[in-house]
Amino acid sequence: MAWKFLLLCLVPLASAAVKFQETYSWNAMDWNYPDQASRQQAIQSGALIPENALPVGIERWRNKLFVSVPRWRPGIPATLNYIPLDAPYNPSPKLTPYPSWQGNELGNCESGLNTVYRIKADKCDRLWVLDTGTYGYDPNVTNLCPYALNVYDLKTDQRIRRYVFRPEDIVSTTFIANIAIDMGSSCDDTYAYFSDELGYGLIAYSWEQNKSWRFSHSYFMPDPLVGDFNIAGLNFQWGAEGIFGITLSPIGLDGFRTLYFSPLSSHTEFAVSTKILRDETKVTGSYKDFKVVGSRGPDGHTTSKVMDDGSFGVQLFNLIDQNAIGCWNSALSYKPQNIAIVDKDDVGMVFPVDIKIDDDRNVWMMSDRMPVFLEAELDYSDINFRIYTAPLDTLLQGTVCEPEPYRPAVIPPQQPLVPQAPQVPQVSQRLAPLRYPALAAVTASPLRPKLYSPTSVQSRPTFSSFSQNVIPKNNGYVSIDFPAQPSVSYFTNGPRSSKNLWW
Ligand SMILES: *[C@@H]1O[C@H](CO)[C@@H](O)[C@H](O)[C@H]1NC(C)=O
Ligand SMILES: *[C@@H]1O[C@H](CO)[C@@H](O)[C@H](O)[C@H]1NC(C)=O
Repeated sequence: MAWKFLLLCLVPLASAAVKFQETYSWNAMDWNYPDQASRQQAIQSGALIPENALPVGIERWRNKLFVSVPRWRPGIPATLNYIPLDAPYNPSPKLTPYPSWQGNELGNCESGLNTVYRIKADKCDRLWVLDTGTYGYDPNVTNLCPYALNVYDLKTDQRIRRYVFRPEDIVSTTFIANIAIDMGSSCDDTYAYFSDELGYGLIAYSWEQNKSWRFSHSYFMPDPLVGDFNIAGLNFQWGAEGIFGITLSPIGLDGFRTLYFSPLSSHTEFAVSTKILRDETKVTGSYKDFKVVGSRGPDGHTTSKVMDDGSFGVQLFNLIDQNAIGCWNSALSYKPQNIAIVDKDDVGMVFPVDIKIDDDRNVWMMSDRMPVFLEAELDYSDINFRIYTAPLDTLLQGTVCEPEPYRPAVIPPQQPLVPQAPQVPQVSQRLAPLRYPALAAVTASPLRPKLYSPTSVQSRPTFSSFSQNVIPKNNGYVSIDFPAQPSVSYFTNGPRSSKNLWW
């Protein structure tokens, strides 16, 4: 008790996120009922138990900010919800079910949703939602309904497609939380990808063909050496967790995107072209089309990533061990020196569970202290859930990820007035053109050459040139230096556990 009191007193001294603005925060989630009486009734019947709700996914589309809440415990009235962004500002808004209360009915396989994790809106105003069909969480999971993709028309709030995964798409251990949407030249030319964390698979779905297929690869497996986690003072092992965070690059010069992926129990980033994923026949014989991109280095566990769909191809991702969001400019090789932390907060950003970039280039990020919810107990007198926003450019400013049309070469210190001093390199001898050839292999977008003019790109290099693309360390671009690290961190005093969990 005395310990808790001390923590509360010291919290204001801790440094908060520097670039991210806290937009919403909650001690516990709650729902918008039509009236007070129906809310009371829901509480009395156990249909609403606010302390059982843990938000895990966000997405912004115009005036809606979607928030998903899995039904891991009883008392979650709706798994897919939104906050109206055009309503009068409320720092702790209640959730409104989407598309409706009925559309969230537990156990109603035809027209309800059971448990939803990550959600994605696309440029054709569709919302892509995977219902896992489950109730409860490991090891107490009931499969009420099959895995089903639900797609909604955001303009009419009608469901326009429901696709049930084929039995061959899933295995007995299947657990899918992350999705990525690959829009090609038209709304019809859209594919969706789903990472099967515990079944170690990647499922592709074609909107046009209304059909799915499943890839397997050893890169989907966890790295057994990095299965130990320390978050919020809790130590636990998530050593079985395979392919998890996935995101897509902008469309490359060859007309295809790159899917980046990483297992949860891993510090390594992998990639595969959507040219492979879109082709059902590549389910076999494509082993070598999956590539190792690089390593984030120690404390590099990540569960959520997103890529700027504009011209830059900058990736943002959560660093769950560090209460931080990291960035990587895909023009650079993937290694610790080229990865920066854009923001960090040891109280507010404990488990930054999801991150998205909207059409206005705003970044949305939610933190939810998930390991404390699962492994110990949340203190509901404290703020547990936060949604932050920041313009993407603000987050990247001053980091190695900041997109630059060029960067001047490093000029050695000039000798003062020594006759016949060696010629110093001209500023126009830029490093940038050296860098971008390698980029073309992975993430070049049609917009990109305008900015970067990689005129020397003739042939398309392979991924292996990625790691040879060495950037001088002393180039004046370093990770942002944070003001003094927080004097106080958020540690729960809950029980330590070594239980193996899914997330
Ligand atoms: C599993 O569910 C049952 C019934 O809801 C509950 O009593 C039990 O505590 C749960 N077990 C775990 C490990 O969550
Ligand atoms: C897509 O496939 C599903 C089977 O899961 C079927 O029920 C549905 O009618 C199909 N939709 C279209 C548009 O073909």
